[in-house]
Amino acid sequence: MTTETEEVRFKFGKNWSSFLKVLDESRIQEAEASLKKTLERSDLQGLRFLDVGSGSGLFSLAARRLGAEVYSFDYDPQSVACTKSLKERFFPNDPAWTVDQGSALDKSYLNTLGKFDILYSWGVLHHTGNMAQAFENVSDMIKPGGYLFISIYNDQGDASRRWAWIKRTYNESGAFVRWILSMYTLFRQWTLTFVKDFLKTGNPLKSWRNYALNTRGMSAYYDLIDWVGGYPFEVAKPEKVFEFFKGKKFSLLFLKTCAGGIGCNEFIFQRNMN
Ligand SMILES: C[S@@+](CC[C@H](N)C(=O)[O-])C[C@H]1O[C@@H](n2cnc3c(N)ncnc32)[C@H](O)[C@@H]1O
Repeated sequence: MTTETEEVRFKFGKNWSSFLKVLDESRIQEAEASLKKTLERSDLQGLRFLDVGSGSGLFSLAARRLGAEVYSFDYDPQSVACTKSLKERFFPNDPAWTVDQGSALDKSYLNTLGKFDILYSWGVLHHTGNMAQAFENVSDMIKPGGYLFISIYNDQGDASRRWAWIKRTYNESGAFVRWILSMYTLFRQWTLTFVKDFLKTGNPLKSWRNYALNTRGMSAYYDLIDWVGGYPFEVAKPEKVFEFFKGKKFSLLFLKTCAGGIGCNEFIFQRNMN
């Protein structure tokens, strides 16, 4: 396992600040809809919501619009700036939404935040540099009966190790190698979809253009860059995640796997009452 002090780290916040340029009302509504659907709630009124690794800040914004009291933090200062800019734009001077810089690995920082009804950490804990420690830390931040909503990269064995090498190389290289690796990723992840879309509809870019609809309001292009660059990078099989949180007295309420393929498995756990 790598440590958080390791130099090689993707500039997530830079990618998120570019994503914010394409953020519009329809993407925000997609983000809200994804929270409502997966959490099976029509709103989040009266709930404390912690967004660990808030990135662009889109899900903090969605949770706040659904009525939650929101606390957002991220390790990357540019991600923090993105989340702050969304707060300024949509909820200026709102005392029910706090945005801060902090780390999921910093136990003494986390201890100052109290306990939450919902802890949301989508695509984050595997990028901290110490996923096991991050699991340990977040498991301690949820009220009895509260929810933990996480997504974690699937362990594909050798394929995951190859991706780890590609991601590390991307972060250690100049613009030309980055471009080559981005093109390779585009080819690996999208060629089949482009061909299928063309054969079915005559438009090879149909899924690329409609990407936001099934992906929480995200963008195909910025997700591709996030994927090829996202480092540190760890992975886990769904059963490993399940076993860890079962051991911490959480019950699994929701699971969406990528069927052994590339991408994230999504989990909602509920902390047992005792
Ligand atoms: C793939 S992005 C996900 C952003 C957001 N959760 C979402 O769903 O769009 C991962 C984020 O995790 C943040 N991150 C990485 N290590 C972290 C840590 N130790 N503590 C908090 N955030 C961290 C990165 O800076 C980045 O903004």
